[in-house]
Amino acid sequence: MRGFWLLVHVLGFTLWLGGGIATMVAGVTAKRFSAGERLVGYKLIGAIQRLLVAPGALAVVLSGFALAGPYMKQGAVPGWMGLMMGAGLLGAIAAAAISVPTAAKLARLEPDTRGELPEAFNRLRKRQILAASIAGALGLIAMFAVTLGRG
Ligand code: HEM
Repeated sequence: MRGFWLLVHVLGFTLWLGGGIATMVAGVTAKRFSAGERLVGYKLIGAIQRLLVAPGALAVVLSGFALAGPYMKQGAVPGWMGLMMGAGLLGAIAAAAISVPTAAKLARLEPDTRGELPEAFNRLRKRQILAASIAGALGLIAMFAVTLGRG
């Protein structure tokens, strides 16, 4: 069973962190687009967040707890593992609770009557940048902990 949960764990953080990086590249690239095209870009970002980031983050946490079972029972969690679990859990919460719902709101926006970006755009975009950066940074901290942190 450990092999299965490790597979779910690896698939999970691949989807989550890969989707996060795709979001960043798409958001930066869309800055050059006209308002209407830029909002279409945010509809694609919404799909990336809903279909890749959310299930990925959930899979990481579920499989992480399944893998952690034996260590919890023994009460012997090494430092790198504790850091992976803590940072990974907080990052997954930031992604699923803030970044994904904000991306869904951005995906529903349409240009205003003048064909410009609607008022809510900048506020939601700032929130998205903050939440996604925190979630991504925590995911990377978990990744550094489980690789470099083992010495
Ligand atoms: C983005 C976040 C995360 C990344 C990148 C990550 C990465 C990894 C990797 C690469 C492994 C394989 C280590 C090995 O066997 O050599 C692993 C194992 C494991 N992960 Fe995570 N993880 C993350 C989040 C979590 C979370 C949130 C938990 C718990 C809630 C967790 C618990 C575990 C446990 C218990 C193992 C098994 C360690 C072992 O038996 O050697 N991980 N993780």
